[in-house]
Formats: sequence, C-alpha cells, structure tokens
Amino acid sequence: MLNPNDGPQMPLLDDDLYRRFCVLIHDETGLSFGPGSQFFLERRLESRMSALGGVSPRDYLNYIRYDPDRTQEWDHLVTVITTNETYFMREIKQLRCFQNDILPALWERSGRSRIRVWSAGCSSGEEPYSIAILAKETGRYPEGALEIYATDINSRVLAKAKAGLYTESSFRAVDEAFKARWFTEEEPGRFRVAPSIQKCVNFSRFNLFDPGRYGLLPAFDVIFCRNVIIYFDMEAKVKVMERFHEKLKAQGYLLLGHSESLISVTDTFKLIHLPGDLVYVKEGP
Ligand SMILES: C[S@@+](CC[C@H](N)C(=O)[O-])C[C@H]1O[C@@H](n2cnc3c(N)ncnc32)[C@H](O)[C@@H]1O
Repeated sequence: MLNPNDGPQMPLLDDDLYRRFCVLIHDETGLSFGPGSQFFLERRLESRMSALGGVSPRDYLNYIRYDPDRTQEWDHLVTVITTNETYFMREIKQLRCFQNDILPALWERSGRSRIRVWSAGCSSGEEPYSIAILAKETGRYPEGALEIYATDINSRVLAKAKAGLYTESSFRAVDEAFKARWFTEEEPGRFRVAPSIQKCVNFSRFNLFDPGRYGLLPAFDVIFCRNVIIYFDMEAKVKVMERFHEKLKAQGYLLLGHSESLISVTDTFKLIHLPGDLVYVKEGP
C-alpha cells in the first residue's frame, strides 16, 4: 500500500499496464481516462485491489477481464470511477424550456395520451425527480401521463435515488419553498421526496455501452443525457448518439448538459431554438 508520507509516490502502474486498464474501462463503460488521470485512476483501482485482499494490478486486470464472476467486481469498480455530481433543478433554464415549450408540444403531439422521458445517467435521482416535479407543477398532466425512466451504470447512486432521501447539498439551487412543497424532513437534515413524485420515476441499472440492453427500452419522446458524455471520448460519444437516435421517436428531443455539444459527433440531430433554450431534435425517421 502506498503511504502519502513516504515522499513522491511512484506510479502504481507502468505505462503499458495503465493503457490496458484505460482501454478495458473505455470498452466497458465509455469512460475515457487519459495520461492526466493516472493518479486519480490508480487510487481508485488501488482501493478495489485492497478490498480484494491486496491483489496485484496485473491479477486485478485479468480478474476484471476474464473471471466468470467479474460482473460483480465491475459493479464495485464503477462506483469508484464514475463522477456522480448532481442536484435538483440543475441547469434550470433548460428544465424550464422542457416544462414550458417541450412538454406542451409533446402533449398535443401524443393526442394528450402519454409522454415518455429517459433520464440517462440520472445519478442519485435529482434530475428525474426534478423532471417529475416540473410536470406536476403545471397541474396539466394527469396521473400516468408522464412516464420517466431513469438509469445509471452506478448501482450505489441508484440505490440512493430509489430511497429518495436527500441532504442539503442536493438543494443548493432551489429555495426553501420548493423543498417544503415536495419534500418532508424525515430526520434532521434528511429530506424525503413526496410519494406522488417518487412513483412517477422508474429507476434501473443500465450501462450505455451494453448494446444488448437497448432492446428492452421503449421509444422515447425526450432523452435527457446531461453531464454524462463529457466523460466520454469522441468514439464513445458517436456510439451513444447512434443508440439515442434509434431510441428517440421522430422529432423527439435530446437534452444534453450545457457544456456538451454534438459538433463533430453527429449531424443526425438538429439544434433548434425554442423560446426557452437551444435543444437538439432528432432528424429523419
Ligand atoms: C455527473 S453525473 C450527471 C447526473 C445528472 N445527469 C446531472 O446532470 O445532474 C454523470 C452520471 O453518468 C453516469 N454514467 C457514466 N458512464 C455511464 C455509462 N456508461 N452508462 C450509464 N451511466 C453512466 C455516472 O455513473 C454518473 O452518475
């Protein structure tokens, strides 16, 4: 085990081994770790190698590549290498655009029947619950009109999402009135989302790089994938966008994070101006 007090730390992995870990992690999850991330990734791998009784990096690599039980270890590894930062009403301008421009348009388009939304990379649930709250706030959509699927590769954050219990940091962008209206303080500093909101969201584990799972999903009117592809390289972004294109209905909406764009990734989505914001729409059939 490396000790931070022992002076400058030697890399845990030589260049070849580091590259092998990066390629494998990229192939399995789309996450891209370059040379600048070596220290970060080594510390995360080290925590998993110690949890397994101090196995060597080479043995650990073979384990997550070939072992019949590797699925469980991938589950653990993913919980330590993903970035899960999120909070309620993040990027509010875009969410208001969803509430005021997109939802009413889709509602009419669907013949006032049902709108399906996917929050892909939902982390601990603040994004899909915000979506459900925004729809409820309008008072326009009857029970069951909005189906929200929320998925993430990280089972630890999904467990938190399903529990629906949050601390102050999740409320950094909202006021007390919002919190009081949609949450109940269950114990000091811990707030539970209202059951009427919780039941609108269907959470499940889903790796965007598991092609076999896409067939299990229905077609969507809107896909939110915000602050997720920022961690992918170009090849991974292209792959995910192909899948999103397949899973979106004609003229369906794709909402990315504000620092994310499809420039040089694909031209199968068109950037359009809505009154509230700029959003992508699926082009073609
Ligand atoms: C920074 S969070 C974004 C959460 C939320 N969308 C938001 O904008 O607040 C990124 C999430 O993407 C998830 N993620 C990363 N790679 C993924 C993959 N291959 N499949 C599914 N989810 C993934 C991470 O586990 C993490 O929870």
